[in-house]
Amino acid sequence: MTDHVTVIPPTGVVPARFRPPTGSSDARTASLDGPWRFRLHPTARTGADPKDPGDDWDTIAVPGHWQLAQAPDAWPYGTPAYSNKLFPFPIDPPFVPDDNPTGEYRRIVELPEDWPTGGRTYLRFEGVDSWFEVAVNGTVVATSHGSRLPTEIDLTDVLQPGQNLLAVRVTQWSAFSYVEDQDQWWLSGIFRSVTLEHRPDAGLGHVGITADYHHTTGTGTIRVDVEDAAPGTRVTVAELGLDLAPGETATAAVDPWSAERPRLYEVVVQAPGERVVLQAGFRTVAIVDGVFLVNGAPVKLRGVNRHEFDPLRGRSVGAELMEQDVLLMKRHHINAVRTSHYPPHPHFLDLCDRHGLYVIDENDLETHGFEQEDGRWPGNPVDDPAWEDVLVDRVTRMVRRDAHHPSIILWSLGNEAGGGCNIAAMSAAVRALDPTRPIHYEGDWSSDHVDVYSRMYATSEHTELIGRGVDPALARPEADARRRLMPFLQCEYAHAMGNGPGGLSDYDDLFDRYPRLMGGFIWEWIDHGLSRRDAEGREFAAYGGDFGELFHDGTFVADGLVLPDRTPSPSLLEVAAVFAPVRLDVVDGGDALLVRNRYAFRDTAHLTFEWTLSHGSSVLATGTLDLGVLAPGASVRVTPPADLPLPPADHTPTFWTLRAVQHAADALDASWFAGGPWVVATGQLAVVPAVALADVAAGGARQEADGSYVVGPARFDEVGNLVTLHGRRVAELRVDAWRAPTDNDRRSGMWVGPSDEAVWKERGLHLLAERKISAALDADGALVVEARTAGPRTRNGFRTTYVWSSGADGSVDLRVRIVPDGRWTGSIARLGLLLTLDEAAASDVAVSWLGLGPDESYADSAKAAVGGAWSHTVRDLQTRYTHPQENGARRGVTHAALDFADGSTLTLDAGPTVYGGVPRAGVELSLRPWSDRALDLAAHPHELTPDGRLYVHVDAAQHGLGSAACGPGVLPNAVLNPAPAELTLRLTSRGL
Ligand code: GAL
Repeated sequence: MTDHVTVIPPTGVVPARFRPPTGSSDARTASLDGPWRFRLHPTARTGADPKDPGDDWDTIAVPGHWQLAQAPDAWPYGTPAYSNKLFPFPIDPPFVPDDNPTGEYRRIVELPEDWPTGGRTYLRFEGVDSWFEVAVNGTVVATSHGSRLPTEIDLTDVLQPGQNLLAVRVTQWSAFSYVEDQDQWWLSGIFRSVTLEHRPDAGLGHVGITADYHHTTGTGTIRVDVEDAAPGTRVTVAELGLDLAPGETATAAVDPWSAERPRLYEVVVQAPGERVVLQAGFRTVAIVDGVFLVNGAPVKLRGVNRHEFDPLRGRSVGAELMEQDVLLMKRHHINAVRTSHYPPHPHFLDLCDRHGLYVIDENDLETHGFEQEDGRWPGNPVDDPAWEDVLVDRVTRMVRRDAHHPSIILWSLGNEAGGGCNIAAMSAAVRALDPTRPIHYEGDWSSDHVDVYSRMYATSEHTELIGRGVDPALARPEADARRRLMPFLQCEYAHAMGNGPGGLSDYDDLFDRYPRLMGGFIWEWIDHGLSRRDAEGREFAAYGGDFGELFHDGTFVADGLVLPDRTPSPSLLEVAAVFAPVRLDVVDGGDALLVRNRYAFRDTAHLTFEWTLSHGSSVLATGTLDLGVLAPGASVRVTPPADLPLPPADHTPTFWTLRAVQHAADALDASWFAGGPWVVATGQLAVVPAVALADVAAGGARQEADGSYVVGPARFDEVGNLVTLHGRRVAELRVDAWRAPTDNDRRSGMWVGPSDEAVWKERGLHLLAERKISAALDADGALVVEARTAGPRTRNGFRTTYVWSSGADGSVDLRVRIVPDGRWTGSIARLGLLLTLDEAAASDVAVSWLGLGPDESYADSAKAAVGGAWSHTVRDLQTRYTHPQENGARRGVTHAALDFADGSTLTLDAGPTVYGGVPRAGVELSLRPWSDRALDLAAHPHELTPDGRLYVHVDAAQHGLGSAACGPGVLPNAVLNPAPAELTLRLTSRGL
C-alpha cells in the first residue's frame, strides 16, 4: 500500500511536461478552482469514504491553504506555524507524527458538454502541500507529492459521462516534509490551481525550445523539439520567416534576449490536433575562463531570493501580485531572482521572460533540519539511495516544466540539503535533460556536481579573496583546480531582516572589481508576515509565535526588502541605488562624479543627464550635461560647469546633483516604466560646504534667586537640568548611547561572539541615567553643566560638559563635549543627546530638515540618501518594520524645523560636529512619538502608541547596521567605537 510515508515517486501520474503560458494552447481546459467540499481530520486515517461527496461538509476555496481559509479573522482549520530549519516533529524519517492534520476535499466534476471527443483528459494540480491521494468515483487513481511541482493524472478511462466525484486527501505531514524543510510557514492544502486539460489526439505533449544567440555574428539558432510529434507538426517563427519541422535547426539574424532587453519572438507550434504559441528568447549562457557570460558579455547578477508569499493567502499567490513583485524588482534595478527554495508558480516565469529578470530556478528540496551542530547530517535523504528516485523525479519535473523559459539561466538542485549521492544523481539527470544551462547547488562545497562556485553569507573579505583567486584551497587538488575555473556566486547575502542590510555596497563594489564574481542574491525579497487581527480588531503582520505555536523561530520569517503588503522598506531604495545600472559616484575627494555605464548590453542613449544646483530648498540653476553615448562598461568623469552661479556662503550647504533620467520608454521598457520619467541614478557633490554656525554665543546666562538658571529661552533647575525650552516643558535632556536594537544588533556576526545588543546591555547602555555633577556660570557668563551618564553595574560612563549661552534673536546655543569615561571595549549604538519634550500630538509634528533624505540612512546604508531640503511628519519619519526596532535616522542634518500643532516652531541648527577628532557634516536626527524602550519592547508596530512626548535624538554618530541577523556584523568602516564627541546646536523658537 502506498501512503504518505512511502518513499516512492508519485504513482498513477503521467510524466511532467512543459507548461506553456495560460491560454497559449488552443486545447480545451476547464478550471476546477472555486469552492470545494472540505473536512479537516486530526490524523491521516480520516476514515472518510472517497465515495462520500461530503454534501454536509464545509466549503473551502481552492486554491488556498486550509490554515488561512478565513484569514485574517478566524482560524477554523488550525493555524500556520513557522520554523526555520528545525523540524517541528521528531526526526524519524520517513515517519511523521500521528497527529497529522489531513484535509478531505470533494468536488463534483462534470465535463462541459462541448468537451472535445477523442484525445485524453488529464487532471492537473499545479501545487499541493504536502502529500495527496486522488480518487475518482470512489477509486484511488494516483498519489503525489512535491508541493511546488505539478502533478498530472490521466482520467480518460475513469471519468464517466455526467457527474464524477473527485476526492482528494491531503496530509499536512508526510515523508516528503523531510525534504521540504524550507525556512517558511508550514501551510497545507491545494494551494495552486486545479484544471482539467484536454490532450487532443495528434496534439503537443512535451515541447522544448533551444534558442541560442551567437554574439559574434548577431544570429540566433532555434530548434523546437516535440516529443512524439504527430506527423505534420510544424514550427513557425513568423517574424524570422522560419517554418521548421520539430527538431530542425535554423539560424537567422535576431535581437537577443537579456534581462536588460527582454526581446521575445513568437513561436507557433502547430500539430494537427493542437496549436501552442510560445515565446522564445535567443540567449546563450556560458562560463568562459571562470567568468559568467550571457550572450558573450560578462553579466553580474544583482538579485534577490524570492519566496512565494501573500500576507493573506500564504503561498497561494495570484497573478497580479506576481506581476507587482516583478515590476517592483525591475523598478529597483534588481536583475535576477532565485526562486528560493522551490519552483515558483509557472506564471511567474512567464513574467520574468516578458519583463526581463534572470532566474535561478530551484528544485523543491531542503533537508536543513538534518544538520547537526558538528556539521554532520545523519539520516539525510540526500545521502540515502532509497531517496534517489524521489529526488531525481523532483528535479526532472522542474526542468521539464520550465526549460522553455529564456529567463532561466541556471538550475539549482535545492537549498541546504547537505551533500550525498543524490546530488550527483540529480545533477546527472539535469545535465541529461538540459545541457545548455549551468547547474548550481550551494551545498556542494567542493563543487563536484555543479558549474558555479556558490556560498551564502560569505563576508566581503572572503568574497574578495575568492574574487582574487587566493581563497583557501580544497583538500583535493583536482577539485580545487576545477573550482578555481568557476565563477563565484553568493546565492544568499546581505540579509535584509528588519533595519538592514548594511554593507551592501561593499559587496557590490567587489562584484564590479573582480570578473570571477558573478554577483549574488539578497536574502530576501519579502517579509512573510501573515495578516491577522488582535483582540481589538486591529490587523497586523504576524510572525512565528503569533499563532500560539510553542515551537517556532519568531521574527526570523520577517527578513525582506519589502514589507508583507509590498511597501518598500528603506533597504529596497538602498538596493535601487547600489544596483543602479548606471552609477554616479563621488571621486577625486569630492570634486567629481564618475559616471559608469554598468549595463552589459545597453548604451546610455536612453538617458539624459540632468543637473540641479540647490541651496537649501532653493534651486539656483539647472542644466543638462552632454556626455555623449556611453557604451556598456564605459565611464567618464564629470565636474560641475565652471560658470555656476555663486550661492551665498552660509550655514546651508550647496549641492550639485546629477541625475540619469529616462524620459521615454520603448516597448521593451514599457512594463516597468509606468509612472516615468524614471531617475535611474543620482550622484551629488557638495560644491559649497556649509560654513559653521556663525557667532556661537558665549554668555548671557544668569542665576535666579531660587538657585535655578536662565539662559535666554531655556530654564534650568539648580543642578543644571533643562526644564523648559521656549516655554515648552522638557522631560529630559541627557546623553544617549543606546538604540532599540535592530534584528541585526540582536545577533552575533557570523554566529561568533556576543551580539551588539548583548555588548550594549553588558555596558548598561539600555538603562543610562545622567547625574549632574555641577552647574555654574563661567567667566563669559555661560552656564556650564558637568554631568556623568552611565548604566547599572558598570564603572564605564560618559563625562559631559554642556555649555549654554543665550544666542541672537532669543535663541539658545549649546556646546556639548561628551567623553567616554572608563575602560570601554566594543561598540556603542550612538553618541549624542536625547531631548524629550512634552507634546500631546507628537506624531503630527511636521519636521523639515536640510540634510540627507528623504528616507532613513545609516553609516553603511546611505547610497540612496541625497542631500537636500526634505519634510515629513514625525509619524512618517518612522519605518514600520514588521518587528519594531531602531529606524528613521536622518544623517548629515545641518538644520531642522519642528512645527507643532499650536503653531509654534522650534528650529535646530547644527554647528561643527566632531567624532573621535574627525569633523562630520551635521548631526544624525531621529524623532519619535514614543521612547526607544517602548520601541524595543513592542512586538508589532500597531502596539506602539504615542505617549504624549516627542523624543528628539541629536547624535554626533550612530553605529551601522551590518547583516549579523545572518552573516557578517557591522564592518569596521561603520562600527561606532566610543570616542569623544562634540556637538554645537542653536535652538530657536517662533510663535511661543
Ligand atoms: C539561509 C537559508 C534561507 C534562510 C536564511 C536566513 O541559510 O538558505 O532559507 O533561512 O538562511 O533567513
